[in-house]
Amino acid sequence: MLITNIKLLIQVEEQPCLRVCGADMSRLNNLENAWLLTNGKFIQDFGTMDRMPKGDFEMEIDASDCFVFPSFCDCHTHLVYAGSREQEFIDKINGLSYQEIARRGGGILHSAQLLHITSEEELFRQAMERVREIIAFGTGAVEIKSGYGLNLEDELKMLRVIQRIANESPLTVKSTFLGAHALPSEYNGDTKEYVNDIINEMIPVIATEELADYIDVFCETGFFSVEDTDRILNAGMKYGLRAKVHANQLSFSGGVQVGVKYNAISVDHLESSGIKEFESLNNSETMPVVLPGASFFLNMQHAPAKQMIDYGLPLAIASNYNPGSCPSGDMKFMMSLACINMKLNTQQAINAATINGAYAMDLSHSHGSISKGKVANLFITKPIPSLDSIPYSFNSQIIDTIILKGRII
Ligand code: NIG
Repeated sequence: MLITNIKLLIQVEEQPCLRVCGADMSRLNNLENAWLLTNGKFIQDFGTMDRMPKGDFEMEIDASDCFVFPSFCDCHTHLVYAGSREQEFIDKINGLSYQEIARRGGGILHSAQLLHITSEEELFRQAMERVREIIAFGTGAVEIKSGYGLNLEDELKMLRVIQRIANESPLTVKSTFLGAHALPSEYNGDTKEYVNDIINEMIPVIATEELADYIDVFCETGFFSVEDTDRILNAGMKYGLRAKVHANQLSFSGGVQVGVKYNAISVDHLESSGIKEFESLNNSETMPVVLPGASFFLNMQHAPAKQMIDYGLPLAIASNYNPGSCPSGDMKFMMSLACINMKLNTQQAINAATINGAYAMDLSHSHGSISKGKVANLFITKPIPSLDSIPYSFNSQIIDTIILKGRII
């Protein structure tokens, strides 16, 4: 497939890099008046129109006045869930906090009850609606967590649905086991016993059945402590599951530090973080991931994303698509929120939503930029005036054509 007359080809890499940090996040390599050639699933080549390849191509697309983007890499979602939680949305409007709702047995535990009574087939059907939705929003690679099962059988149900999404959708999918998302009520407050069961009962089965790439813990006051997190990440590591951590969402939980200790591929949320967390992340291989949709939806503080970049750190943005803190998987909207509320510039937001998101899923060698040999996951925009118009027009649908793994969707 040859795409010609591209007004601006975004995020072009001659020398592919795995992630972008600090001041480099404000740089974006773009080609004006460009062409791009795919070969099967992959990007074969690209260049400027004065040096266009000649020959017979299976398909030619004229992208005059349009931009071509690498697909978004959404590295933090919980998009496999049953039903929805709009009653809690109303409770929040009426003054209850996320934690108060959780303490009353709502929140994650409510989603776990719904998931328990939903068949695997129905769960897959509901999740696929969200998958189709995020594909239309421009996402090409996604991480999906379990964590609404909270017992072996229901966690396996979720993870099998994630595996089926990976097999049956055009998305590139990474799967995360998040048994430590909330304490099930049948444990009567005994977190230690549940952590034991995660370590002894769940991790061995999930790892043996190769149902997860990563292991995650909601390290937060009222959920799982640093000690619980340490034990779970340690056990996961022994089974080859690399760490991710829900860190510092509601308090300075220590989640960042324990994540870095285990060389987590990412620590996510980070609303409550400062210099100690920045120091811990500095010179580590761990990607800080911020979730601007959760702060927006819960009307809570935003992660100090700009300060992290100014400190020299890399940064990724993800949607956090879930029924409780962000019922949206719209990565373009997340970029707008990051610009508006976290003061990122457009280039930083694009780097955060593409190459750095790919890094947080261990996919940046094959996804997240326009680079020869990378997977042809792209979208062609409608005619748009400028790069800045993308976060600016925060609610406009700008995508015209979606190409995933080299095929028009
Ligand atoms: O990343 N904070 C923990 N987990 C999700 C919310 C899950 C839910 O409320 O259902 C998050 O925000």
